[in-house]
Amino acid sequence: MKTKLIENFKNLFNREDGISFFSPGRVNLIGEHIDYNGGFVFPCALSDGTYGIAGKREDRMIYVYSEPFTKEIYSFSMDHLEKDPHHAWANYIKGSIHALMKHGYDIPFGIDLYMTTTMPLSAGLSSSASLEMLIITLLDHLFHLNISLEDKARLGKYAENKYVGVNSGIMDQFAVVAGKENHALLLNTDTLAYEQIPLELNNYSLLIVNTNKKRGLADSKYNERFSECQTSLSTLQKAYSINYLCELQENDLNKISTLLDPLIFKRTKHVITEQTRTIESAKALKQHDLITFAKLMNQSHQSLKDDYEVTGVELDTLQQALLDAGAVGARMTGAGFGGCVVSIIPTDILDQVIDDVTDVYTKKIGYEPTFYQVKPSDGTHLI
Ligand code: GLA
Repeated sequence: MKTKLIENFKNLFNREDGISFFSPGRVNLIGEHIDYNGGFVFPCALSDGTYGIAGKREDRMIYVYSEPFTKEIYSFSMDHLEKDPHHAWANYIKGSIHALMKHGYDIPFGIDLYMTTTMPLSAGLSSSASLEMLIITLLDHLFHLNISLEDKARLGKYAENKYVGVNSGIMDQFAVVAGKENHALLLNTDTLAYEQIPLELNNYSLLIVNTNKKRGLADSKYNERFSECQTSLSTLQKAYSINYLCELQENDLNKISTLLDPLIFKRTKHVITEQTRTIESAKALKQHDLITFAKLMNQSHQSLKDDYEVTGVELDTLQQALLDAGAVGARMTGAGFGGCVVSIIPTDILDQVIDDVTDVYTKKIGYEPTFYQVKPSDGTHLI
């Protein structure tokens, strides 16, 4: 890939001094819709993601060629970072630069940039966080900004929240920038303390399956869940001294049910029980107990289906088909409303599972799912 980057950079910009980076996508293993409620999440970075090569310019322009999005070089000035409705991908670059400048980082010059991707887009595997962390890490390197890992993730979150307009938490950016090969990352989204836990798959494979559903309303539905949690928190703060919903415990649920309206209670129940499942999952993996972890994944999906209501027929069909075909664990991953299911499958039946699931899903939904066998990988890095 590096040779391709160097060649394309030379052809496009007629220069050979580019610096190349890779920034992964991510999959969340468990701890869903938790990162904006101050709890633990458990994602890992993927070996597919976004590649970029860039060099400093002498003016304040950004010239970017992005495969597969652009047929010609797209350009904008760092002093005019207005959103572009026709080039949604470019808004993640602009949003990242905006976040850096808003936080006082000095970026005196623009860059020439060539980018390409090996990951599915709009599939819930964080292609946007992958791009944000690529841009911030590239600029950090080129302009010696010395940004810590935590601050890189915070800046990416700021870009999403304040520029793009989605109230997402910090999980995606953190997983992308801090991932480690063959490990899952247990992240406390309140303190940003984290622990890398080995993901020992042995005779099992990690398989991601994309519903291929068009995810039109995902952002607005996501923001709706975010505000439901805010409503719950502000109501419960009258009875409990808490900053986040994840400070509550499962044995608080009886009392909580009397304080909240039924719908808000269901959302809160998911958050609190998911928190327990995430902590139990990390514990199981530390004890080399993949099967207990897989069972917790199944319970997580059920809770996201019944209580948080973010699955839908495509994700539910896939999850059930995977279990019926022999997966030991399967759950939706990411925001939901489409996107992907992550599953753990005995490697010796992998091909059969793929055939069976394709068959069941296509018959019911009308189009095929896509499969990616993945491994936890390193976070954004120089190549
Ligand atoms: C999206 C958001 C994350 C997180 C997940 C749900 O991926 O970007 O911050 O909230 O949904 O767990």
